[in-house]
Amino acid sequence: MNIERLFSKRTKTMRPSEIRELLKLTQNPDIISFAGGLPNPNSFPVAELQDICRIVLQKHGKLALQYGPTEGIRALRTSLANRANKEGIYATSENVLITSGSQQGLDVIGRVFLDPGDTIIVGLPTYLGAINAFRAYEINFEGVPLDKDGMQTDIVEEKVKSLLKKGVTPKFIYTVPTFQNPAGVVMPESRRKKLIEIANEYDLLIVEDDPYGKLRYEGDHIKPIKAFDDEGRVIYLSTFSKILAPGFRLAWIIASDELIRKLSVGKQALDLCTNTFSQFVANEFIESGYLDLHILRIIEMYKPKRDIMIEAIKKYFPPDTVCHKPKGGMFAWATIPGNIDTEEMFLDAIKEKVAYIHGKAFYVDGGGSNSMRLNFSYSSNSIIEEGIQRLGKVIERKLKEAS
Ligand SMILES: Cc1ncc(COP(=O)(O)O)c(C=O)c1O
Repeated sequence: MNIERLFSKRTKTMRPSEIRELLKLTQNPDIISFAGGLPNPNSFPVAELQDICRIVLQKHGKLALQYGPTEGIRALRTSLANRANKEGIYATSENVLITSGSQQGLDVIGRVFLDPGDTIIVGLPTYLGAINAFRAYEINFEGVPLDKDGMQTDIVEEKVKSLLKKGVTPKFIYTVPTFQNPAGVVMPESRRKKLIEIANEYDLLIVEDDPYGKLRYEGDHIKPIKAFDDEGRVIYLSTFSKILAPGFRLAWIIASDELIRKLSVGKQALDLCTNTFSQFVANEFIESGYLDLHILRIIEMYKPKRDIMIEAIKKYFPPDTVCHKPKGGMFAWATIPGNIDTEEMFLDAIKEKVAYIHGKAFYVDGGGSNSMRLNFSYSSNSIIEEGIQRLGKVIERKLKEAS
């Protein structure tokens, strides 16, 4: 049977994620993997969750095992709205949509807003999962370079103006303003406000993706862009994946009532409802006061990992490597000197039993070839230095070969 003939046009343009293929190579337990964006499994609060699961089944068993509303269970939506209020975001439970991971949230946003041929603005670099989610809607990406303060908003404005001149109105700006994946940078408040001004002036939406904001190891908390949004233009996403457990597949969107209603319709066909049991468990975890304590524990666990990795990069990578110490999140982003293509270097690294994600994967314009993303949350402290040392050797060899 020629099955190809039956695939939709959209499916024909879909490509398997190269990164997922590369990640398969990192499954070998001998490989020190800085590749995946995985939380450390030792951070999972297994004992607390055992108790909470029992309580949820006792208190809410019949509801927790049943289908629930597409928008999510009211109690969790209310808890998340209350937490958002503390961050300066105006929200009631009606402004919250629970999703099956932020990844689903991104896809739902794509479904609701994007037609083939539409244009959106993203950072250079940007989160690969967002690129893949939006690409499936057959759209065009316009990239805006990041600097040490995240997306450069003056360039965003120039870009919007030049697109408008060509008759193209971008639908939205997608950004991860806090501890960006992959670059680790944070957008200061002035740029957050500027982005809102741009959205208001040129009638655009902002998609603010914030999985890492709570994982801050130093410096002061900065309010989300959504906190400066008076016109309902920001669609804010966050997730339990990095502050509780990704296995829950539980995340949330905060947006205006009108947008939440539309997004909820967009989500209905995908899953009817997000896992009800994990919603009850997560809500109990919040209400019993565990979540905030747990976040502190994660910070305590990840901060030394970051420090070990950054120190090791200084020690083992070539001296003119650029790698800023991230103030939070889960990633270091290193740009190495010379004309080394980190994608080509990947197999050499695997031979040395160490893995990373090459920079190009995060660029919609083909850039980033001499950068790499290094995750520090997953590996144990004792092997981070060893992994970076191995990588340093691979880079040194490549540099010698190139000279
Ligand atoms: C920026 C960003 N957005 C979204 C996601 C997806 O998160 P979730 O596990 O909630 O689907 C990730 C996961 O790494 C991420 O880094």
